[in-house]
Amino acid sequence: MNDDGHDDGDSRVRELLRLNAALDDQVRHLVRTEQKLFLSQRELGRQIARLDALNQFAIDVAGLASPERILERAADMLFALFPFDQALAFVVREGGALVPAVVRAVPGREPPEERAREACATVLGALPEEREPRFGTADELRRTTSFAPLLECVDAAFARDDPSPEATARAWTMVLPLSRRGTPGSDLEGVLVFRTRGGPLSFHEELPTAKDVAFLGLFARQIAAAVTSSRLLRDLQLSYERLADAQRERVERERLAALGELAAVVAHEVRNPLGAISNAVSVLARLVPAEGDARGMIAIVREEAGRLNQIVSDLIDFARPHTPAPKQESVATIAETAIESVRVRFPEAHVSLTTDGDASAAWVDGRMIRQALINLIVNAVLASPDGAPIVVRVSGGEDHAVRIEVEDHGPGVPAALAQRVFEPFFTTRASGTGLGLSIVRRAAEAHGGSVSLHDAPSGGAVFVIELPSEPAPQR
Ligand SMILES: Nc1ncnc2c1ncn2[C@@H]1O[C@H](COP(=O)(O)OP(=O)(O)OP(=O)(O)O)[C@@H](O)[C@H]1O
Ligand SMILES: [Mg+2]
Repeated sequence: MNDDGHDDGDSRVRELLRLNAALDDQVRHLVRTEQKLFLSQRELGRQIARLDALNQFAIDVAGLASPERILERAADMLFALFPFDQALAFVVREGGALVPAVVRAVPGREPPEERAREACATVLGALPEEREPRFGTADELRRTTSFAPLLECVDAAFARDDPSPEATARAWTMVLPLSRRGTPGSDLEGVLVFRTRGGPLSFHEELPTAKDVAFLGLFARQIAAAVTSSRLLRDLQLSYERLADAQRERVERERLAALGELAAVVAHEVRNPLGAISNAVSVLARLVPAEGDARGMIAIVREEAGRLNQIVSDLIDFARPHTPAPKQESVATIAETAIESVRVRFPEAHVSLTTDGDASAAWVDGRMIRQALINLIVNAVLASPDGAPIVVRVSGGEDHAVRIEVEDHGPGVPAALAQRVFEPFFTTRASGTGLGLSIVRRAAEAHGGSVSLHDAPSGGAVFVIELPSEPAPQR
């Protein structure tokens, strides 16, 4: 170091410059680190959002039995995560055809559901082989993948919203085959297609990265698994329903069989003593003088024996095997004879018949249908106030099935009893056996038809028998 201190000054300046440069380096390094940190934080945020969405998707679709609903949720979720503005989801139907199931477009634009269905209704007989997610321009994917027919129908579906054919060709497109295994040719539950509407993509400033595509592949597997479970769930539900139906039918059949057996035994045991009583009463009637109380008593015994006999007849009818022997018969004529038979018992009743349509020749067991109609008309007469009209309507319904209605002006059937009135032995009448309507129901069902109860506009009851036009399969 010399006396004027120049060297000292120079070296201090140099030292300062060196320190300054080092500081500069440090600052640059710090900025770079912070930038990296920011980027990885953003990436982390994105990954968390996706995991969160995946998780939410799994929760949302658990227990859904409809593949369409699952694809709706999947399309909505991917729409929220990626900047596409059109989506079409296809589902594989039984028989292996891909059919459009869900259409989505940016909010504010009505999803062109109808158009998509029309455009894609017939194109997709054969399933594509690929199972990996594919991303590129529509043109590129059409040339390099087996999704070409699918992409064409997507173009057609969205054609009205697309700016120009050139823009459409450049539209960024993501095809997501929904497969649990993801290997070429393996199981396929459906395909999701996402697009931008024409112009270039603003994919958060960048195109989907390898990570994005990997995530989409993972998600596609999860959607496929959910769709598979939903199909299994639906099958299971259907099986349960069928099982419950079969069980209900079996219980009903067994109950009726047991009732039938009991009825047959009772009827047989009652009919013989009843015959003896009737004979004895006839003899008594001849023996006692025409005047006096005894005659009145005998009349009561005779009437009550007649009623018992009617009950026994009902029971025997109920116990009879119910296999119809159908012939081509005119239901209108059957109804006429039923009305005649009721008039013999109730000469005061106002029963009229209207016929409409071609019900003249149906395949029916005339005896069974006549008995059923008699039961309905007698019920109507007993429920109606004196002189109130009862209408029997016979019509050839849709598909030439036969419809018979019996309408009265009585009080109707309370809603709480609407199902019970068809049960055997259910009655609200002191002198009823409660078999009338169960015989009606059995006759209708033996023909493959049904009987139902409705409210008449007047407040009375309308019983409707519907019979198919074809003979019922023999059980
Ligand atoms: N047209 C009707 N209006 C109001 N209630 C009715 C009518 N038809 C049937 N019901 C109700 O349904 C019940 C059951 O009818 P169902 O014909 O099976 O037996 P029932 O008439 O009581 O006896 P039966 O065996 O002698 O016919 C009746 O007791 C009555 O309460
Ligand atoms: Mg009755």
